Amino acid sequence: MTRVFSGIKPTGHLTLGNYLGAMRRWAEVDQHRADALFCVVDLHALTVDHDPARVRRLSRQAATLLLAAGLDPERCTVFVQSHVDEHARLSYLLECVATDGEMRRMIQYKEKAAREQARGGSVRLSLLTYPVLMAADILAYGTDEVPVGDDQTQHVELARDLAVRFNHRYGHTFTVPKATSPAVAARVMNLQDPASKMGKSDDSGPGIVYLLDEPEVTRKKVMRAVTDSGQDVVYDPQERPGVANLLEILAACEGGDPAELAGSYHSYGALKKDAAEAVVDVLRPVRERHRELCADPGYVEEVLRAGARRARERARPTVDAAYRAIGLLPA
Ligand code: TYM
Repeated sequence: MTRVFSGIKPTGHLTLGNYLGAMRRWAEVDQHRADALFCVVDLHALTVDHDPARVRRLSRQAATLLLAAGLDPERCTVFVQSHVDEHARLSYLLECVATDGEMRRMIQYKEKAAREQARGGSVRLSLLTYPVLMAADILAYGTDEVPVGDDQTQHVELARDLAVRFNHRYGHTFTVPKATSPAVAARVMNLQDPASKMGKSDDSGPGIVYLLDEPEVTRKKVMRAVTDSGQDVVYDPQERPGVANLLEILAACEGGDPAELAGSYHSYGALKKDAAEAVVDVLRPVRERHRELCADPGYVEEVLRAGARRARERARPTVDAAYRAIGLLPA
């Protein structure tokens, strides 16, 4: 059976980008056709300045939202990364396979490190090694497929490279994974700045639709989206990124093709109105289920405990095999 693994980082409130680019597919497709594991990757949230209480709160919220989005613990494994030691155990071995140059070439590292330095802050070493921990997340489970948005493909490529290199040097140990992305909305853009990704850790609230925004707030954000100069509605991500983003969001929410949808609109206003309603409709059941789950925190905790047990069982044989293959004495 195909093994699927993916993760989400509790560094901010989850967004429409997380949902359309990743979570929705996990719930609607992946958990039904594969042995799938979905992880709140809390260790990754420690790579930038963080508040411990906030990370704890956001981790719980992310896990609750994964269930609210439709992940079914009877069909897939939902857990928290720090509950399964195998991730950190494997990460160190992969640091001994990755190179410094490889890490410094990672786009997200370059962007985040530059931002951190511009603020006068220091860059945590874990920000540099982050993609190795992500490779460990993936490789520990013998993962075939990693369903992610576009921004993560370079990291999954690194996981592939490390798997191939490790296998070549020390004997076959890891499955070589591949990234899969959705056909539309693989990169939902910020509504106020359509040149940038809609990211949960960004500060610009009005351009980001959060899954837990009230419907009225969501409507306002979409209606106020920056569009392009020009009048006609065409799908042209290069020249008209704002309109293209709205068309992609609408297409992802309702089904259909963004270029074809463009043909049925004669004004930006009408497009925005439909996109706003489509987003509100898609998020409504998630918000409702989230509310129900919040009333029963014991249930979510039990799901995470059972998920960690299952995840540990799946990861341990591969990680133990990697320890032996690389030359460490069995305990
Ligand atoms: P994270 O937490 O930034 O995002 C979680 C998932 O949401 C997708 N995504 C988007 N898709 C479309 N448009 C957007 N604007 C958008 N923003 C986010 C991401 O591509 C991702 O699929 N490094 C990862 C977490 C991670 C991971 C892993 C993922 C750690 N280990 C192992 C897969 C496998 C991250 O920061 O995702």
